Amino acid sequence: MIVITGATGTIGSEVVRLLAARGVPVRAVTRDPERARMPAGVEVVRGDYTDTASMAAAFAGAEAAFLVGLLGPEFIELDQALVAAALAAALGRPLEVFDVPEDLAREHMLAAGMSAEFADGSLAGQAYVRAGRNAVVTGDVRQVLGRPARTYADWVRDHLALFAQQS
Ligand SMILES: NC(=O)c1ccc[n+]([C@@H]2O[C@H](COP(=O)([O-])OP(=O)(O)OC[C@H]3O[C@@H](n4cnc5c(N)ncnc54)[C@H](OP(=O)(O)O)[C@@H]3O)[C@@H](O)[C@H]2O)c1
Repeated sequence: MIVITGATGTIGSEVVRLLAARGVPVRAVTRDPERARMPAGVEVVRGDYTDTASMAAAFAGAEAAFLVGLLGPEFIELDQALVAAALAAALGRPLEVFDVPEDLAREHMLAAGMSAEFADGSLAGQAYVRAGRNAVVTGDVRQVLGRPARTYADWVRDHLALFAQQS
């Protein structure tokens, strides 16, 4: 049984789809099982990163997990909770976290049908981050705009009316 968190999202739903298509037993984790639409045969359970007990239950009896974290400074605590839950949960052994070597990652991307250009571009992006090139947050946006950068959520809220016009 492989547990997939973020299973209703863009990344997680694709992982669920691919595993289910191969007949691998999958348990999909979502905060709202009633709303989740999953391929036949996929077990759906409720789990919220902020609710340790729910995550422990979600991981119970699993042999592996695919953890989908959330990016952004506002989600750091949620991601920590997710990893803590996975570590504490009933995998029956400590969670092993390891880096996938670049060669192996490239091999798998090509085997999954991605082009060499896509694989190399993706790996170059990861190498850029690993080298710490995204580590420094500059004040450039504030300096150029004269105000701090805004969040994506703010932008969506400000433009809700425009989205409604186009639908
Ligand atoms: N998609 C991309 O191309 C891409 C590229 C680079 C980085 N990323 C990053 O990778 C992460 C996942 O991307 P995505 O596109 O798959 O995101 P997404 O479509 O927005 O899905 C987010 C998932 O997280 C789950 N989730 C949110 N809060 C949760 C909580 N408190 N407890 C449990 N589950 C929670 C949601 O599940 P429920 O609502 O069902 O509970 C949903 O399945 C994000 O941080 C994103 O920024 C994505």
